[in-house]
Amino acid sequence: MDFELTAEQREIQAVARDFARAEIEPQAAAWDREHGFPRELLDALGELGLLGVCIPESYGGAGADFVSYILVLEELSRADAGVGVTVAVHTSACTMPLLQFGSDEQRSRFVPALARGERIGCFALTEPGAGSDAGAIVTRAERVEAGWRVVGAKQWITNAAFGGTVLLFARTDPGTRSARGVSAFVLDGADVEITRTEEKLGLNSSATNDIAVDAVVGEDRLIGDEGHGFRIAMATLDGGRIGIAAQAVGIAQAAYEVALRYAQQRQAFGRRIADHQAIQHKLANMSMEIDAARLLVLRAAWLKASGRPHTEAGAKAKLFASEMARRQTAEAIQVLGGYGYTKEFPVERFYRDAKITEIYEGTSEIQRLVIARQILGERTAERV
Ligand code: CAA
Repeated sequence: MDFELTAEQREIQAVARDFARAEIEPQAAAWDREHGFPRELLDALGELGLLGVCIPESYGGAGADFVSYILVLEELSRADAGVGVTVAVHTSACTMPLLQFGSDEQRSRFVPALARGERIGCFALTEPGAGSDAGAIVTRAERVEAGWRVVGAKQWITNAAFGGTVLLFARTDPGTRSARGVSAFVLDGADVEITRTEEKLGLNSSATNDIAVDAVVGEDRLIGDEGHGFRIAMATLDGGRIGIAAQAVGIAQAAYEVALRYAQQRQAFGRRIADHQAIQHKLANMSMEIDAARLLVLRAAWLKASGRPHTEAGAKAKLFASEMARRQTAEAIQVLGGYGYTKEFPVERFYRDAKITEIYEGTSEIQRLVIARQILGERTAERV
C-alpha cells in the first residue's frame, strides 16, 4: 500500500491549487451573488489542461490519470464548488463516456474539442418525471430516413447554457417503460433549446437549465449500441459520483480552513475560542471526517484508474463525503457563530453548496440502494 501521490499527481494538484487560489477563490463570493462566472474562466482552465485532465494527449487532453483529475476537482471545488461541478460534468459525465463508448470516428470528432475546452459538455438524463428513477425517461428517439428524430425535454442540465456538446439519453424502444430500451446520443448545443434557467439554493456560479429537444440528427449520433444507453448512463455515473465526492471534500476542506483560522483569532471568555474544548472537539471532528472522506474518494479513484470495479467504492465515497460536507459546513457556521450566518464570511456559501452533493448524480438514498445491491450480490453491474 502506498499513500503517496506520484510526482505527476502532485504537480497537477499544485497547478489546480495555485490557479484556484489566484483566479477563482477571490471571485467566488461575487460569482455566487451574480449567478455565474465569466466564460473566459473556462478558456483559462482549458489552456492549463484542466478541462481534459484524464483524457489522453492524442485526444487533446493532458494525459494524466483519473486520480489526478479527482485531485483537480477537489482543488477547484475548494475555491468555488460551482466551478467544480462545471468541470466535473464536462469531464466525467460527457467527455469520458464519449471516449469510452464512442466509435473511433465519434471519439476523434467530439473528444478533442471537449478536452481542450473549446466546447463544454453536458449530460442530459434527468427529466421532470425521471430523477432517481432514471429509467422512467420519456424523451424519445425514433428512426427516420436521415437518422434519428429526438423529441423531449430534460431538466436541471448543468452546462447546457454553454451550448456545447450534449450527451443525451432517449427511449428508442417505445414498447418499454423501464431502464431497458434507452439509447445514448451525442447532440450539439444547437440541437437543443434552453427553456428555463434554474434558481438554486447554492452552487450559483454554475449554470443549470431545462432544455427541450426536437431535432433530426444523423445515424452517427448514436453512442454505443441501440438499447444500451441506460448502462452507459449508469457506468458514467459510477465514475461521476467519485468526482462529486471530491467536490464535497473540497467544500468541507474550505469550510474547515475558515473555521480553524477564525477559532485561533476570535476571543471569548478571555481566551481564543480554539482554547475551549467545545470548539476543539468540533475542529477535531472536522479534520477526522474530511480525512476519512478523502481516503474513500482516493480509493475509489484509484480503483477506477486501475480499471477495477468501482461502483460500490464510488457510491460509498459519494455517500460519506456528501453527508460529511453537509454536517461539517454546518459545524463551520457554528464555530463562527453569528458571523458564520452572514455573508461577511464564506461558510454560509459552503453550507448551501454542500447540500446539493447529497442530491445530484444520485441522492444519498440511491447511493445506499446501489451499495446494498452490491453487497447483497444483486447487481453485477459494470457490464456495458
Ligand atoms: N454499470 C453498468 N450497467 C449498470 C449499472 C452500472 N453501475 N447499474 C445498472 N446497470 C444496468 C443493469 O445491469 C441493467 O442492465 P440490463 O437491462 O441489461 O439488465 C440496467 O442497467 C438497469 O439496471 P437496474 O435494473 O438496476 O435499474 P433500476 O431502474 O433499478 O435503477 C438506479 C437503478 C440505481 C436506481 C438508477 O436509476 C440510478 O442510478 N438512479 C439515480 C440517477 C442519477 O444518479 N441521476 C443523476 C443525474 S445526472 C446529474 O446529477 C449531473 C449533474 O448535474 C451533476
